Amino acid sequence: MINTYLEQLVAIAQKERRIILGLMSGTSLDGLDLALCAFTGYGNSTKVEVLHHTTIPYPTSVIEQLKTVCSQPTVSLAQVCLLNAGLGQLHGQWVNQQLSKWGISPDTVDCIASHGQTIYHAPKRLHQQEEFGNATLQMVDGDHIAVETGIITIADFRQKHVAMGGEGAPLAQYGDWLLFRKKGEHRILLNIGGIANFTWLPAVGGVGDMLSTDTGPGNTLIDAYVQKHFPPLRYDENGSIAASGTVNEKLLAELLNDRFFQAALPKTTGQELLNPQYVENAIVATQVMVTPKDLIATLTAFTTHSIVRAIRQANRYQAKEIVVFTSGGGVHNNTLLQHIQSLLPEARFQSLNTLGIHPDAKEAVLFALLANELFAPKTSEEAVLPVRLGKICLPA
Ligand SMILES: Nc1ncnc2c1ncn2[C@@H]1O[C@H](COP(=O)(O)OP(=O)(O)O)[C@@H](O)[C@H]1O
Ligand SMILES: [Mg+2]
Repeated sequence: MINTYLEQLVAIAQKERRIILGLMSGTSLDGLDLALCAFTGYGNSTKVEVLHHTTIPYPTSVIEQLKTVCSQPTVSLAQVCLLNAGLGQLHGQWVNQQLSKWGISPDTVDCIASHGQTIYHAPKRLHQQEEFGNATLQMVDGDHIAVETGIITIADFRQKHVAMGGEGAPLAQYGDWLLFRKKGEHRILLNIGGIANFTWLPAVGGVGDMLSTDTGPGNTLIDAYVQKHFPPLRYDENGSIAASGTVNEKLLAELLNDRFFQAALPKTTGQELLNPQYVENAIVATQVMVTPKDLIATLTAFTTHSIVRAIRQANRYQAKEIVVFTSGGGVHNNTLLQHIQSLLPEARFQSLNTLGIHPDAKEAVLFALLANELFAPKTSEEAVLPVRLGKICLPA
């Protein structure tokens, strides 16, 4: 007898329109982003409509548990084991609740695309151990989501990218290219999450001319110091603390003085490097005394300057006009965005909303797109996505 799930997978691949629920939990540990998407086509003919999206915030207890393992070189292995299963069940339960809130029957969802939670990101440039190459590790096993929801789940998208010699990130570039490029216009898709990254879609040329890179910190350090000095705040709402402080230039220069910021593009990083210890080291090295609000202003400038520096570095076209589409939670930080804009007069900033996708949903949509590509009948002519990413987890 033919395995019905194999038949179902073939049927999904052959459908005119696939309904895929993207799930993303980023390094900010703020919550789980869900985006219910309808896809038609594959590769260069891909079209997506976002039917619903939301973010479900993590309860404080979950955030505290995640903090004990995420980006930590030494952890309780028992805790990792428990979280891998526990978070999978939680994500599955949240999917069930959210589909019911949206009035969507689970039978109409073809598959779930689950990014999971990055617990450690270790490109070789960071760990520098001769005998090892690039490495990255995401938890939340897709089997738990598949069993909890009864929906086929595609999970763990980054591992094959590493297996093929990549750093496992940024994966957003494939969706950025397929959905957002425009001939004749230099476009940058800038995502400011815990870590900031962008994809440069050049006005001319093919997929090989696209560049996608992390730039350094997004919100991660700002969040950490807001939580430390301004409880119960978890982040700098609209950038108002940063706006009330003064940037300490000496500390800013030291923060930017790491080989990561000098390295050629593209490159990836994480909180394994950009953590409070990194900031403390810079404070000790410069012997500065900074007030909490000046520190928030300086960390916001750190994010700004690292983004601006990388965009300038990427501008090998000497482009006089670039359209920057912004996404990620950092777009809500006005001080940050205004500061970036003031340093990049050649850039015209627009919200990703103008391209029909809500900025908070973007990453979840792009992982749903990677799942859509997994079903593609053949690799596209231009090989935008040279391999199929993700593992198939069956509900039973
Ligand atoms: N109103 C706001 N003002 C300033 N920052 C905000 C606001 N809303 C969200 N953020 C920032 O966005 C972060 C979440 O961004 P997100 O794109 O989800 O990052 P990640 O992908 O790392 O989870 C929060 O931790 C916070 O720093
Ligand atoms: Mg998030």
